[in-house]
Amino acid sequence: MSFSKWVSSVLLLLHLLNPCLMISSSSSSLTSNGFSQIPSKFLTLAKRDDFSDWMVGIRRKIHENPELGFEEVETSKLVRTELEKMGVSYKYPVAVTGVIGYVGTGQAPFVALRADMDALSMQEMVEWEHKSKVPGMMHACGHDAHTAMLLGAAKLLKEHEEELQGTVILVFQPAEEGGGGAKKIVEAKVLENVSAIFGLHVTNQLGLGQVSSREGPMLAGSGFFEAKISGKGGHAALPQHAIDPILATSNIIVSLQHLVSREADPLDSQVVTVAKFEGGGAFNVIPDSVTIGGTFRAFSTKSFKQLKKRIEQVITRQASVHMCNATVDFLTEQKPFFPPTVNDKGLYQFFKNVSGDLFGTENYFEMQPLMGSEDFSFYQEAMPGHFGFLGMQNEAHSPMASPHSPYFEVNEELLPYGASLHASMATRYLLDLQTSSPDKSYEKDEL
Ligand SMILES: *[C@@H]1O[C@H](CO)[C@@H](O)[C@H](O)[C@H]1NC(C)=O
Ligand SMILES: *[C@@H]1O[C@H](CO)[C@@H](O)[C@H](O)[C@H]1NC(C)=O
Ligand SMILES: *[C@@H]1O[C@H](CO)[C@@H](O)[C@H](O)[C@H]1NC(C)=O
Ligand SMILES: [Zn+2]
Ligand SMILES: [Zn+2]
Repeated sequence: MSFSKWVSSVLLLLHLLNPCLMISSSSSSLTSNGFSQIPSKFLTLAKRDDFSDWMVGIRRKIHENPELGFEEVETSKLVRTELEKMGVSYKYPVAVTGVIGYVGTGQAPFVALRADMDALSMQEMVEWEHKSKVPGMMHACGHDAHTAMLLGAAKLLKEHEEELQGTVILVFQPAEEGGGGAKKIVEAKVLENVSAIFGLHVTNQLGLGQVSSREGPMLAGSGFFEAKISGKGGHAALPQHAIDPILATSNIIVSLQHLVSREADPLDSQVVTVAKFEGGGAFNVIPDSVTIGGTFRAFSTKSFKQLKKRIEQVITRQASVHMCNATVDFLTEQKPFFPPTVNDKGLYQFFKNVSGDLFGTENYFEMQPLMGSEDFSFYQEAMPGHFGFLGMQNEAHSPMASPHSPYFEVNEELLPYGASLHASMATRYLLDLQTSSPDKSYEKDEL
């Protein structure tokens, strides 16, 4: 056993034997000793072979059997089985396949940790022992790792339940990829009275044990659209007898590009992308209709609404220029609009502090906003929240493919980092509420 392991074991032992020991000392020693020990203690535990092997096993099992949004039946079952083995109580079903676990006193204050469980419709191209066994379906965004990391955190927290100054709510949510599972979790009211929620996403842009985040707007709000442009089919050599929806749609696509380049403030980042184009099939036939689809992104609700309005106008009016008709559908039933992901200022500072204690401040990186989006934003609309990225670059295997690539891989060495960061955030957050703001201590008794 290394000296540092020995020191943390002794501290842990003291802590377990006498939870009051640290509370009764002056608050400065609380912060300088036990407090900043919490992260490294969890990291040491999560890096133990048996612990990390267990998480790797879970991640691989989920990876082999990917399930799409709201269909995470087996994944959800696996989560419940593991929670039961740990003795963690849970609520199920929440938001169709979601599982909500509880560790701690069962009383307020409440802090929540979130993982997403869904996979993507794509064929895995990586050949390895635990490749997806479901054709055309793959965990290409790391949600298998997110689920394993949160189960890891659940185990760490359960093993130190006496130290929790409140309740940690573990959110295993369905359908992050477009389905808005987070929205359904919020609507289920299981997170009422939660003071803060934290989420982590793996990234191939940073090394192991490195994190990034930013304060305020971080990821864009996003929406989808689909449009059918109808003309009149006919012989390709006799265009005068047809109404060509392909040419009309081509003009629509070009006009849609002007929304961002000519109508939006250049300093207010926005995106409109047409990513789907279906129509025609023969070289000499003008088809009856064309279907296009795409996504739009913006950082403010105002810009988002303006884009939505103009996308509809441009499609229908440009279609009529070409004597076609168009219908536009924003698909909100299947794919609700995601609000922008906006990090709470205080929680952002808290994240920097805890990750700094855990991994060293040199491993924190300030990030630029990204046009990607996350349904974590639905939680942030309902309560203060923080979303951060956790690195997993593999020196021996770089560059690593990006999320949503069929070549996407997870460096499983990241799992202990994720589990301990989650567990530390929750434990420290509850301790913080207790110690740093005495005026909040009433909450514990009141509820
Ligand atoms: C939140 O607190 C209110 C008021 O105390 C209580 O009625 C409600 O049941 C609580 N909700 C949850 C999910 O704990
Ligand atoms: C467009 O809709 C109008 C009104 O329903 C209809 O009369 C016309 O034939 C349609 N045109 C095409 C090209 O579908
Ligand atoms: C985190 O905050 C605690 C308490 O204020 C402090 O002792 C510690 O040095 C901070 N750590 C970092 C990395 O800023
Ligand atoms: Zn994704
Ligand atoms: Zn993701």
